[in-house]
Amino acid sequence: MSDEQPPASPAAPQPLAPKPAAKGPMKSMQQVEVDESKVWNLWFTRREFLTLAAWGAFLAGLAGSALAFLRFFIPRVTYDPPSLFKVGKPDEYMPGIVDERWKKKYRIWVARDTPAEGGGMYAIFARCTHLGCTPNWLEGQNKFKCPCHGSGFRKTGINFEGPAPRPLERCRVALADDGQLIVDLNTRFRNPKDWKKPEAYLKV
Ligand code: FES
Repeated sequence: MSDEQPPASPAAPQPLAPKPAAKGPMKSMQQVEVDESKVWNLWFTRREFLTLAAWGAFLAGLAGSALAFLRFFIPRVTYDPPSLFKVGKPDEYMPGIVDERWKKKYRIWVARDTPAEGGGMYAIFARCTHLGCTPNWLEGQNKFKCPCHGSGFRKTGINFEGPAPRPLERCRVALADDGQLIVDLNTRFRNPKDWKKPEAYLKV
């Protein structure tokens, strides 16, 4: 046997070995660094932006001044209730009853006495003489009671309990040509001595 070895055949191409996995998150896309200042410059320069902002502030101030100027010439409308108003005819009120139908709108009670009490009508201003709260009429207890500090007033308006220093006030009353009762909020009678005056106690 000969020791000669057959010549080696050319090496067959070997399959490529897979590359080792990259450490850390794999970048699937090429990341592009964005220069924000360049994007910004596509729209405005900083100077242009500041100029626009200044104009915006100036125009807003101008509009506000114009509105304030116009408002000066527009009369203010108030929705306060009138101080002189009609509250219906006397026979719409039951004798011996404190009527609360006008309390919310005009802040008054209208009371009509029985014939034994004098048969007249009067209007009581619904404001406590202590610090101005609005009392409640307690029909069952026949008295007005202030919810703030507990002052109590009789049906006539005379104070009898709590800190109120004086009676409830009465408003001027009169009869209109159409037979309705007129109440004048601006003329009020504080002193019970005045309550028998015809303007404070309307005989009906
Ligand atoms: S306000 Fe009515 S008791 Fe004080």
